[in-house]
Amino acid sequence: MNVQKYNKLYTMSVDDYYAIGNNAEKLNFVFQGSSNWDMYFSSADEKYDVDEINNAYLLSFKDKNKFEKTLTNMPKESVIDYSMEHYKEEGVNECYILTNSIVKKKKTKIKKLQPENFEQECTTVWSFARRGNWATHNSKYRGNWAPEVVRNLILRYSTEGDYLLDPMIGGGTTAIECKLLNRNLLACDINPNAIELTKNALEFESEFDPKIELKLNDARRLSMLEDESIDFVLNHPPYADIINYSDKQINEDLSNIHDLDKFCDEMEKVASELYRVLRPNKFCAILIGDTRRKKMYQPLASMVMQRFLKVGFSLKEDIIKQQHNCKATGFWVNKSKEANFLLIMHEHLFVFQKL
Ligand SMILES: C[S@@+](CC[C@H](N)C(=O)[O-])C[C@H]1O[C@@H](n2cnc3c(N)ncnc32)[C@H](O)[C@@H]1O
Repeated sequence: MNVQKYNKLYTMSVDDYYAIGNNAEKLNFVFQGSSNWDMYFSSADEKYDVDEINNAYLLSFKDKNKFEKTLTNMPKESVIDYSMEHYKEEGVNECYILTNSIVKKKKTKIKKLQPENFEQECTTVWSFARRGNWATHNSKYRGNWAPEVVRNLILRYSTEGDYLLDPMIGGGTTAIECKLLNRNLLACDINPNAIELTKNALEFESEFDPKIELKLNDARRLSMLEDESIDFVLNHPPYADIINYSDKQINEDLSNIHDLDKFCDEMEKVASELYRVLRPNKFCAILIGDTRRKKMYQPLASMVMQRFLKVGFSLKEDIIKQQHNCKATGFWVNKSKEANFLLIMHEHLFVFQKL
């Protein structure tokens, strides 16, 4: 069997993948499942010499003799959400990855360009159990927002030909929707990977050809934009350091900041710039979630919302966005019972107006 070992990760061929999967029991391992592993947001590319690949399949196994808990009945998505650290915490001691020597990067084939049965939301509670996968939308960028959120915002708060801004574009969800809905866009991010991913996400034919500009930029400084030049802002920042987007390699990445007050100080700088560049009477939407520290609830969303009010915005809407991620299953359900806390399953989507 041709298996290369990198610390606790191995690379191997497709045949070996099946061989190991099928023979795990004999090797005294329990096969926990495989998942698509996003290499951009793991440290694997540095540590394990697999830098030419975007994603791989992560297979996990655990030693039968040492561990009683199993993750096998968790849905596939829950496994995706587990970083190596989580695996280690769970006592998983063997992980396997498939590299692109066998998993070739596929060109995105577009099955459908537009959503089916899309209806605009008209209440303050939004819930999208399954995120849309039209055009080039996918869930690979960790913590990306659902295209339904973006489509609803764009349709309600802008018109065709408007100039929009997303100062933290991530994997490009907003850019895809702007291309489909004929809105011009300036899309920025502090992480070059995000800019590259967004560029790739825009590689599809649309009936419109709006101006979409991508820029590596810190959201706290939008010096390339004149005052009152933007018709609508969509902002989806990190939720402090809940997900770190650059493995602490980019100093200006706000997802490096653990202290919530310090995070809010920096978000206030973002808010102030967004206020400056937005035209009067226009809107600015921000999606942000809360967190928990030492078992106590931390209202991060309200804390950030207060900073937006402080720089001059008025609050038009506070929409509760239900989260449908994986953590309310398996491992986290047990943890929430053991430690007596509730799993946070909502985010706040604030819509501000510059009156
Ligand atoms: C929650 S993600 C955005 C996801 C995006 N809405 C999507 O659908 O893919 C937050 C993004 O903020 C970016 N970011 C962090 N600090 C930043 C800063 N100072 N300026 C600009 N972008 C920043 C991160 O690189 C990350 O891509």
